Amino acid sequence: MRMYDIISKKKHGKSLSREEIQFWVNGYTRGDIPDYQISALMMAICFQGMDETETLDLTLAMRDSGEVLDLSGIHGTKVDKHSTGGVGDKTSLILGPMVASLGIPVAKMSGRGLGHTGGTIDKLECFPGFSTALSKEKFCQNVNQIKIAIMGQTGSLAPADKKLYALRDVTATVDQLSLIASSIMSKKLAANADAIVLDVKTGNGAFMKKEEDAFALAREMVQIGKNAGKQMAAVVTDMDQPLGRAVGNSLEVKEAVLALNGLGPSDLMEVVYALGKEMVLAAGRAETPEEARALLEQTIKTKAALDKFAEFVEVQSGDKRFVYQPELLPVGKIQLQVLNNEEGFISRIYAEEIGLASLVLGGGRITKESEIDLSVGILLNKKRGDRVNPGDVLATIYANDMERAKDAYGKIVCAFQIQKEPAENISMIKGVVR
Ligand code: URA
Repeated sequence: MRMYDIISKKKHGKSLSREEIQFWVNGYTRGDIPDYQISALMMAICFQGMDETETLDLTLAMRDSGEVLDLSGIHGTKVDKHSTGGVGDKTSLILGPMVASLGIPVAKMSGRGLGHTGGTIDKLECFPGFSTALSKEKFCQNVNQIKIAIMGQTGSLAPADKKLYALRDVTATVDQLSLIASSIMSKKLAANADAIVLDVKTGNGAFMKKEEDAFALAREMVQIGKNAGKQMAAVVTDMDQPLGRAVGNSLEVKEAVLALNGLGPSDLMEVVYALGKEMVLAAGRAETPEEARALLEQTIKTKAALDKFAEFVEVQSGDKRFVYQPELLPVGKIQLQVLNNEEGFISRIYAEEIGLASLVLGGGRITKESEIDLSVGILLNKKRGDRVNPGDVLATIYANDMERAKDAYGKIVCAFQIQKEPAENISMIKGVVR
C-alpha cells in the first residue's frame, strides 16, 4: 500500500477501505508516514468528506492506536458524559454526584481547560489534596465502592488522535465534521463506558456556532457510538452566553455546591436535568424522562447528591470540608464591579469574550503547560433577558492583579449586548439526538 495512492483516491472523492485507513493511522502513529502526506490527506478529507463506514473505521483505528480501558471489573451499566466545551460549564461536578447517588456507576475521564474553555480536572483541584491521578485498579475500585470516579485523561488513550489533532490544528483542517466526530469519539470509546451522553454546545461560545452544525455533529457522534456497540444520546445545548453565573475555577465549584444545595441558576439546572435524564435512562434506572427527572430532583432535595460529592472528594484525597463550607474556597483578593451605562435588556453575553476575560485574569491556560490561578474569575450579576439601567452591576471580577482586572473589564463590557426591546426567551435545550 502506498500513501500517495490513498491521498489521490480521497482527492478524487472515493471512499477509503478499512485496511487503507488502518494503514495510514498506524503508520502515522508509529512515525513512518510524514506530516506532509497526512496534511494532504486531511485537506482532501475536508473537501471530499468521509462516509459513515469510513468515519467509523477511522474512529476505531484511532481508538485502537492505544490503550482501551478495561472496565469489566465495574458492575452495572457504566455511564460517561462529555461536553464539547463551553464557558462556565460545571455540569459534570453537579451531575456526577446526582447520578452516582442513584446507584448508577459514573466512570469518567476528564481533561484540563485550554484557551477560553475550562476543564473539570482544574475545578476539582480547588479541593486541597484532590487527585485525579488514579491507577486503573483504583478507578474501578472507587466506582464499585461509591459509584463515581473521575480520572485525568492519560496520554495512552488514542495517541493517534493526539498526533492528528495537533497536525489539524496547524493545517486549517480541524473544522470537518467527520474528523471532529471521530476525534472526540475515539477518546470516548477508549475510555470504554457502556453508555455515553454527549453535551454538544452551540452558539457564540461554542465550537459549533450554528445550531444545524451542532446537530450534524451530534448525529454523527451518536451514529459512531451506536455502530461501536454503545448506548448513545446527545443533547444540543445553548452556549450563546456562559452557563450559570460563575466563570473561573473556584467560583464555578462554589456554584456547583450551591446547585447541589438546590440553589443552582435556572439555565444551568435546565442543562443538568436534560443530560441527567439521558444518563438515568441509558442506565435503565427509569422508564420515562419524567421518571428520570423526578429521581434526579430527589437527589437534590434529600441532599444525597451533596453528600455523594463530599464522599467522592474525600475518596480522591480532597478536603471534603470545602463541600460543606464552600466559603473556604479561595477567591481573588481584588473585586471589581463592571458597571452598565445603557438602559435596556440584555440580549446576549458573548461567552467567548467572558472566557477570554477569565484567561486574562490568569484562570485559564494559553498553552498546555501554563500555571493557572484557581481563585480568579467572573461572576455574572446579570444574564440574558434581564432589564438593566445605567449604573447597574453587570458582573463582578475576582482578580489578584489590578492591571489584569482592568484588561478583563474591557472584555466583559464588550461581551454584554443590550437592546431596547425585551429579549426573546431562548431555550437552553435545542434538542436530543438518540
Ligand atoms: N475536540 C476534539 O477532541 N477533537 C476535535 O477534532 C475537535 C474538538
